[in-house]
Amino acid sequence: MPAQITLTRPDDWHLHLRDGAMLATVVPHTARVFGRAVVMPNLSPPITSVAQAMAYRERILGAVPESATFEPLMTLYLTDRLEPAEALRASSQPEIVGIKLYPAGATTHSDAGVTDLQRVCPVLEVMQATGLPLQVHAEVTDPAVDIFDRERVFIERHLAPLLERFPDLRLVFEHVTTAEAVRFVEQAPSNVAATITPQHLLYNRNQLFAGGIRPHNYCLPVLKRERHRQALRAAATGGNPKFFLGTDSAPHSQRRKETARGCAGCYTAPVAMELYAEVFEAMGALERLEGFASFFGADFYRLPRNRDAITLHREPQRIADGYPVDGDRLVPFRAGEEIGWKVA
Ligand code: NCD
Ligand code: ZN
Repeated sequence: MPAQITLTRPDDWHLHLRDGAMLATVVPHTARVFGRAVVMPNLSPPITSVAQAMAYRERILGAVPESATFEPLMTLYLTDRLEPAEALRASSQPEIVGIKLYPAGATTHSDAGVTDLQRVCPVLEVMQATGLPLQVHAEVTDPAVDIFDRERVFIERHLAPLLERFPDLRLVFEHVTTAEAVRFVEQAPSNVAATITPQHLLYNRNQLFAGGIRPHNYCLPVLKRERHRQALRAAATGGNPKFFLGTDSAPHSQRRKETARGCAGCYTAPVAMELYAEVFEAMGALERLEGFASFFGADFYRLPRNRDAITLHREPQRIADGYPVDGDRLVPFRAGEEIGWKVA
């Protein structure tokens, strides 16, 4: 058992940073450890143009502590009305690495999302031709479909037909949560990859109700059964370059989480690498953590791997109870609990 492991600096390929006071609170947590992050565009209103993405990028850079170097990789929010010309502009902008597809109504701030995939085909044509990746929140919004089946049904109804029509589209199946999603990505060609969150590797759906309802374990896609968690753990730690790190760290204030209709999102950024290390250690796969965290995402996005390193120490630390933000508090995932790893 090594007392520490050193790895190439990791990147977070799926992150929510918000704006304003929340942005200022959360950026340092990610920038402490991660070299780059794919920043999701679901602000209110969403980031739907290159100009908005570039302005948001400047606000993020303004929140990076002087001691850190952190590069935000920006995305646009796909709506029914996004012009193919804007997608083309995005594809030639090195700071923009993709366009995010949220089915309308699937999750936080997704009202502006896509109502019908037919409508965005011209944009997808441009993306396929230019190689600009599409990041997909893969859940149907059909209220008749059980919430635990929404990812699986999205694959059948939308994702498989989409890739049949656009076989060369570079696509990231974001935050996979089911065995069916893992299998789909494994069997797809190399232009299809997936991110996996720490909470879906650590917890199954029992953790939504362990000792009472647990709002800080609630995210979308929702935690699934144990058999799905096992499939995710095997995928993440198995060395397949199609699966890489994306925390989906999604901060909401305590007031918006601990209420009658709590928001979806787990705030994992402060100890994200430590959480992944716990999983890889439990799977006896610590030597594969670097590929998952630091290589495969960069390779998929055709970006250089980071050149500096971080060190994870086998040293217990207590996860914070919360962080003050704008007269409220931000409660992290596993608040107050102990974790066996620490990034120096
Ligand atoms: C995300 C958020 O809060 O922005 N929430 C979540 O539970 N993951 C939205 C999302 O990525 O679905
Ligand atoms: Zn997300």
